Order: sequence, then structure tokens, then C-alpha cells
Amino acid sequence: MKIGREWIAVLDFGSQYTRLITRRIREQKVYSEIIPFNISPAALQRRRPAGIILSGGPASVFAQNAPACSAGLFQLGIPILGICYGMQLTAKLLGGAVKPGQAREYGQARLALRPERAALFKGLPRKIKIWMSHGDQVAKMPPGFRCLAATPACAVAAMADPARKIYGLQFHPEVVHTPQGGDILHEFLFSVCGCKGKWAMARFVKESIKSVRKRLGKAHVICGLSGGVDSSVVALLLHRAVGRQLHCIFVDNGLLRAGEVEQVEKMFRRHFGLDLHVVRAAPLFLKDLAGITDPETKRKLIGKRFVQVFSAEARRFGRAKYLAQGTLYPDVIESSPPNGGPAATIKSHHNVGGLPPDLKFNLIEPLRELFKDEARAVGRELGLPPEIVNRQPFPGPGLAVRIIGEVTAARVAILQKADRIIQEEISAHKSAPELWQAFAILLPVKTVGVMGDGRTYENVCVLRAVTSRDGMTADWARLSPALLARISGRITNEVKGINRVVYDISSKPPATIEWE
Ligand code: XMP
Repeated sequence: MKIGREWIAVLDFGSQYTRLITRRIREQKVYSEIIPFNISPAALQRRRPAGIILSGGPASVFAQNAPACSAGLFQLGIPILGICYGMQLTAKLLGGAVKPGQAREYGQARLALRPERAALFKGLPRKIKIWMSHGDQVAKMPPGFRCLAATPACAVAAMADPARKIYGLQFHPEVVHTPQGGDILHEFLFSVCGCKGKWAMARFVKESIKSVRKRLGKAHVICGLSGGVDSSVVALLLHRAVGRQLHCIFVDNGLLRAGEVEQVEKMFRRHFGLDLHVVRAAPLFLKDLAGITDPETKRKLIGKRFVQVFSAEARRFGRAKYLAQGTLYPDVIESSPPNGGPAATIKSHHNVGGLPPDLKFNLIEPLRELFKDEARAVGRELGLPPEIVNRQPFPGPGLAVRIIGEVTAARVAILQKADRIIQEEISAHKSAPELWQAFAILLPVKTVGVMGDGRTYENVCVLRAVTSRDGMTADWARLSPALLARISGRITNEVKGINRVVYDISSKPPATIEWE
């Protein structure tokens, strides 16, 4: 994070909502980052956050090894907001008392605000709906605090020491079930912390271009373009920053969607003028896959071949010292295990992992501070058209994991045709629900059909359409019967080799989104 940028530190105590807190803050145009709860006061002060939020968490402050931040954080003079566990910890560390609640309070509750309510609740009615999820609660506030609000089951549901700018909320302002939660966070950010709210994608683009130029100087950089949102945005951002010092490599593995290679070439080479190198390697991939039916073997073979093809191409750019990747914030969130486990764990995706040792690149990941929808907003800012910005996720091994059984050129061609029809119909159908993905799977199963007067014996194709927030869980989409009928009718009529379409009505879990 750039020093000097206004930001809020969210200390993570393991709540399932921590990431949501960060999102809600960024939605108010204030940059926010999750950091380990055990950061030292000196280290945090060096990064000069405008405010600190202590997240909720599953632990009880009474538990052995309960995660605790340093009490020194409260001496920094930086405003602090403790949420749920964060509030209980505040009470404990500052000399108050926490007690186990009589019963766990979970779900919607009504919060009664005290007449003398301060800052956070400015302009709100006397009673508001909130979302509770806790066992323990504050029994005695620390010296200097006063109670701002209560629920029938929780006498101190919000507390404040306005002089020291330290606040606590027993409920969760970050979830949608607290309808005025955004207003409460807004008050904390703007009235208490004095934020200005200038975090916006236009500014991000400007700042990133500047910092990429500074970092690269005259060095050349390679970017593996996949046609997906993240790598497309990275490529365009770098192109804006260093122009012809950027070389993009696009591997055509023969397992892409219909028209994808042409679309990428048209967009990036002709329209944006990028130095794009398309490696036509379909025969190599298909040869590897001949006779292979096991999903994991398919994935491994494709991954291995990709690295070979990519490295061979990358070697042609001997001068390039950098490799750009579309890593996003959810892949790099740095956190400490709240159960008091060992040091920080950092997860980083290396999409082009396993490159041979002679290819020593420095990684450059310009999107590593962004959530997916922020990366999309950057794409829009850079002029990326909607068909790429709103593109559905597509697995690295491509159509190979949607062809159950052996992958052959003929089967890829059949699946591409069915998939194209699905994309066309869904985008033409205005009332279709907002989908995470919709695609076809080709089964190694043949069934009897009838066409005209003749008997057919052809393949079955599955239609998979799901709604999801992040791909971790998903529900099958309730597509209208009219839309299902159109898709099925067109596929069986137009795609030679398919005479039956079935709809997958499984959710994730227990099924996954892809079939392999
Ligand atoms: P599953 O099938 O595990 O997929 O429910 C979750 C999401 O991840 C996508 N996916 C992949 N994306 N490389 C990727 O970049 C892969 O190997 C891969 N496999 C699955 C999938 O399309 C879905 O959106």
C-alpha cells in the first residue's frame, strides 16, 4: 500500500465477515486493508491509517489463546471501532468486563438508541434493525466509556469514549441485515476518522501507471493473456504505463470457446495495439490428451504443456525481466490464524507457476489490492468493452474439463457450438437472472433420438447455469422454461452430434460448478 494514501486498517480476528468490512469501507471510497491482529503498534503507526477496525471473530475473550491485539494500539491516538469480538476485546483490554451472555443472540434484533447517542448514530431514528451474532457481551464498560444503545438481550450494544475516539458495536454494521450499517460506518469514516473518500478507480489507474513506470524503468515485461478479465486488465494497464515494453503471450491450446482467439486478437492487437503473440499450440495439447479420461491427469497434462509452450515463447524475449500476473486481493490477504497459531500465512496464486529455473522473472501484480469487481471497474476505466469486463470465469484447462471422457478435436468442436448457442440465448434473454456462469458439458453418453423420420444415436449435452457470489458456493439458476426450451431446441437442431439436452439442477456444495 502506498504511504500517504488515506486508509483504514481492519484487524482480522477470524470473523467470516472481515472481508465484508473491507468491502463496505471501499464502497465509501476509502481504501481499506485486512492486516494480522497481532501487528505491533509501532508497525501500524508507521503505515499511518486514518482509523482502525477490530473485526469480529469466533473466539471468546475468555478462551485460552484467545486472539488479542496489543493494548498499545489504543494509545496511538488513532480512532478505533471494535465490532462484536472487537468490542469485547476493547472492553477487556481497557479495564471493563465481559460476561458470557445468558443465551447466544443470533439474528435480527431491534436496537434502541440512547437519547445522548454520539457520532456513529447521527441522524438515525431511535430504533433501528440490526444483526447480532454473539455469545459474550460487555458487562461493565471501561472507564471513560458511555453506553449508546441497547437491545432487549444486550444492555451495552454500543459504547463510546468520544474523547479518545474509541467505539464499540456488539452488532454487525457490515452485513445487509443491518440496513443502516452503511450510515454507521460512514459516520465512523468521515466524522470520526476525518476521511475524505477519494479512493476511486480513476485514481487507482493513475497511481498504478505512475508506480509501474517507476518500477520498470526501461525494462521489458511479459504478460500471459488468457482473454479473461484479470489478465486483460493487467495487460491494458501495463500497456498504458510502458507501451511497447510490454509483450503479451496468448496460448491457443485448442480448448477455448468458439471465436475466442479471434476476439482476443481483434481486441488487443488491432484495437489497443498491444504487442501480442498468439502461440497456436492446439495440436500439442490435443496429442497429450489423446486417450486420457481421468480429470486430474487431464489437468496436469494441460498445465505441464502450458508451462512448456509459454516458456518457449517467453525465451524469445530475452530482455524481459518481469512477468505480470492478474493476482487479486482475495488471493493475497495476509492474516494470522486467530487461534494463536504460528506466523502470518500468505497465499499467493502463481498462474504460471512451475516456470523453468532459467526463466527468472520478477513478478509484477498491479491488481493485488483489488477485489474482482474493482478490477472490472479498472477495466472499464481503461476502455475494456463490456464483453470482456463482464466475462464469465473460465477454467484454465478450458473445455477439456467440460468434455467428460476423451478430449478430441471433433468433440471440442461440438461443445464449442453448443456453448455459443447458450451464450447467445442467455445474453438475448433480458429476464435471465444474473448468472455467475452458464455453459455446456459434453457427456460420453449416447442416446436414441428421432429426427424427421430417422432414428439418431447421438451425444447428450448438459446445460449448467449457476448463480454465485464468489464461486465458493453456488446455486443452480432458475432459468425460465421458455429460455430452457429455446436453448434445448437450438442445440438439438443446430449442433450435429447432440440429440438430447439435460439441465443440471445441483448446487455447490455438494456438486462443483465444473464437472471435472
Ligand atoms: P468449481 O468447479 O470448483 O469451480 O466449483 C469454481 C470456479 O472456479 C473455476 N475453475 C477454474 N478457474 N482454473 C481457473 O482459473 C481452473 O483450473 C479452474 N477450475 C475451475 C470454475 O469455472 C468456477 O467459476
